[in-house]
Amino acid sequence: MKALFLAGGNGTRLHPLTESVPKPMVPIMNKPLIERTMVDLKKFGITDIVISNCYKPYYMKKYFGDGKKLGLNIQYVVEDYPLGTGGAIKNTESHFDDTFVIFNSDILFDVDIKKMLDFHKSRHALITIAVTEVEDPTVYGVIDVDQMDYAVSFKEKPKLEDVSSNFINAGIYIFEPEVFRQIPAETVVSLEREVFPKILDNGGKIAVYKNGGYWMDIGTPEKYMQAHKDIMNKKGTLFNSYFNKRNVIIGENVSIHPKAVIEGSVFIGDNVKIGANVYISNSVIGNNVTINPECKVIDSILWDDVNIGRDAKLYSTIVLSGSNIARNSVFSKTIITSKENQSIAI
Ligand code: GDD
Ligand code: MG
Repeated sequence: MKALFLAGGNGTRLHPLTESVPKPMVPIMNKPLIERTMVDLKKFGITDIVISNCYKPYYMKKYFGDGKKLGLNIQYVVEDYPLGTGGAIKNTESHFDDTFVIFNSDILFDVDIKKMLDFHKSRHALITIAVTEVEDPTVYGVIDVDQMDYAVSFKEKPKLEDVSSNFINAGIYIFEPEVFRQIPAETVVSLEREVFPKILDNGGKIAVYKNGGYWMDIGTPEKYMQAHKDIMNKKGTLFNSYFNKRNVIIGENVSIHPKAVIEGSVFIGDNVKIGANVYISNSVIGNNVTINPECKVIDSILWDDVNIGRDAKLYSTIVLSGSNIARNSVFSKTIITSKENQSIAI
């Protein structure tokens, strides 16, 4: 089975994290989110991948190339202008002639695609949508489901008073290629607002798969932080895939001063220098990072090429690539960017 990644959104709600990288390339535990998802698909025998993108398209192509290094075969379909989720799928029609799976690229999830496919076949559906339950359905696509687990209606980003179901579209779909016939070509089309309702109107069956595990949309900085917290707090089964059952992962060419203390779940990349009396807990340290003596890094995420000046303290803070934190500074619940070390409250 082949997979399609919808990766053309411009990630506005995740600014400033998405100012320099497209949303699917935002690092989760020091690796682009989409890389982790794609590599994980190999366990279901999925290695043929199409990425549909639009915003900063060359970034991904440059990073992944044809995917061979990751044991994948990646092809790219680039839009001149955003076609919407439905239009983007239609635009990839020539790549698919059999049942295939589609993913939104901004989600962290634990769904057994093999089991979902078996369910899809057993329901003889045109489309199967994975759903999840969330606290605030108003920022997602709400799906009303019948007793046989078929969708009966869709409400995209409904007002609270219109929310009639706890199930939201998780952004993971199994599609039969017949669906392409129901989407107009070279037209801006929304999958959620137009294609799904049209299929139901035409009598097509859309099944709903409720058996997924952990799910998180990393669409905002708060959710980006939450996803890391969940991994570190061993929520669901995600921790094992990131930490291989060890609490601390240390990359290559890392020097840690004997008087530094590392506690909790900590992920350290390559070429990192950690000075004397530094304290790090529940944090991610990217590649090429220097943490000078006496610093504290707690519940924080440091991207690559970062320098933390002596005696600086970071609490629940995201430090973007290329930033230089002045000595003695203290940041809490802040995003720091390399642009004149601008800081933004989370
Ligand atoms: N190629 C392409 N072209 N991709 C697009 C376009 C486009 O014009 N617009 C959006 N995408 C991609 C985004 O990059 C993202 O991976 C995915 O499609 C969904 O777009 P978002 O902008 O993230 O949508 P959302 O989060 O508001 O809502 C969607 O996801 C929710 C789950 O996270 C909907 O599918 C909701 O129904 C769903 O609940
Ligand atoms: Mg989204």
